[in-house]
Amino acid sequence: MTGSCTERVVRAFRERFGREDAVVVSPGRVNLIGEHTDHNLGFVLPAAVDKAIHLALRLRDDRRIRLFALDKGEAYQGSLDALLASELQWPNYLLGVFQEMKELGLKLRGVDCVFGGDVPIGCGLSSSAALEGGFAFGLEELMGYGMDRVALARLAQRAENRFVGVNCGIMDQFASLMGRERRLIRLDCRDLSFDYVPFEREDLRIVLCDSQVRRSLAGSEYNLRRAQCEEGVALLRLGQPEVWSLRDVSLELLEARRGDLDPVVYRRCAYVVEENQRVIDACAALDRGDVAAFGAAMNASHEGLAHGYEVSCPELDVLAAAAQALPGVLGARMMGAGFGGCTINLVEAAAMPSFEAAMGRVYRERLGREPVLHVCRLRGGTELAGRERIP
Ligand code: GLA
Repeated sequence: MTGSCTERVVRAFRERFGREDAVVVSPGRVNLIGEHTDHNLGFVLPAAVDKAIHLALRLRDDRRIRLFALDKGEAYQGSLDALLASELQWPNYLLGVFQEMKELGLKLRGVDCVFGGDVPIGCGLSSSAALEGGFAFGLEELMGYGMDRVALARLAQRAENRFVGVNCGIMDQFASLMGRERRLIRLDCRDLSFDYVPFEREDLRIVLCDSQVRRSLAGSEYNLRRAQCEEGVALLRLGQPEVWSLRDVSLELLEARRGDLDPVVYRRCAYVVEENQRVIDACAALDRGDVAAFGAAMNASHEGLAHGYEVSCPELDVLAAAAQALPGVLGARMMGAGFGGCTINLVEAAAMPSFEAAMGRVYRERLGREPVLHVCRLRGGTELAGRERIP
C-alpha cells in the first residue's frame, strides 16, 4: 500500500516537475484515549498508523512555490514573498509551515511539491497534521536547519494555529512525527514528556468505523470549546494562582467552585478533568494487562464527549453504542475533534468477522449507508521513503 502510494506521488511529481529531491511518508494518527485534553495541557495516548500522506519535494533556486494535491487534482502557485491564505484551504497547511519557518528567521528556498495519500481526508485521522509535519520534515531534511522532531511538531502545530486558524493542541503533529511501530505514545502535553507504551497484542485489533460525516463544524466549534475551557480556567484561577490550565484542576476544586461557573463552561471543564484521570487510569490498566478496564475507560470517554463536551453527532453515537453492545468489543468511542469522522474500537481479533457483519447491518439499517471500516496497524513516525524502491 505504502509503496504504491509513494509511486503514484512520485510519478505525478516527475510528470509535472521533473526529478524530486526527497520523498516523505507522514502517517495519520489514532488516539486510544484522551480527547480534547491536549489543548488543556493534559494527557493523551495516540499512535501513528499505517495510513499516510506521501510528499515528493524539490527545492528551487528561486522563491516560487508550486504545489499539487494529487487526490484533489488541484494546483497552487505562489511565492515565499507573499504567504497569503489560499481559498483552496489545503495549501494553507504548507504555507503555514513556511510562514513559521520565516518567523524563526530560517533561510527559505522555493519548492515544488506533490502530495497524496491513503489517509482518508476529514475522517479524523489527522491528515492535516500529517501534511504539515511531513512538509516540515522534508524541508528540514533538505535544508538541514537542525530541528528535531519535537521542534518540528511544535512548528507544525503553530502553522495550524496561526495560518490555518484552528487552535489545535500538539497531539496530532506529535503522534505523526514521533510514532513507533507497535507503540502507543503516552504524552504529557504540559511539558511534552512521553514514553512509548507497547501495544503488541496480536489478539486485539484497532478498528475505525467511519461515520462518513465530514467535520464541517469542527474548526469553529473546536475554537469555541477551547475558549470555554479558557474561560473556566480564568475563573478557577481567581484565588487559586496555581491553576494555569485544567490540568491543574481537581474534581474537588471544580465541584467547590461550580457555582461560579456558567453551566456550559462547568460541563466542558468537568469533562476535561475527568478525561485526564481516565487516561491515567487507562494507562495503568494497560500496564497490568487489564484490557477490559481499558475498554471501559474508552466507553466512558465517549459518554463524556457526547454529553459533557458535546462534540459527538448522532451517527457517531449510533456507531459507538452499537459497537459497545457487541461481544468481543472491549471499548468504542468517537475519536478526534468530533462532529463526524470515525469511532475507534478495540476489538478481539477472533471477533472481527462478527464485528464486521454486525456493524455492516448497523450502517445499512440505522445510518442508511454502506460500512467503511479501517483496521489500523501502529507504525513509525514521519520518515523519508526508501527512494531505491522507485524505478
Ligand atoms: C484535533 C486536534 C487535536 C486534539 C483533538 C481532540 O485532532 O488537532 O489537537 O485536540 O482534535 O482530542
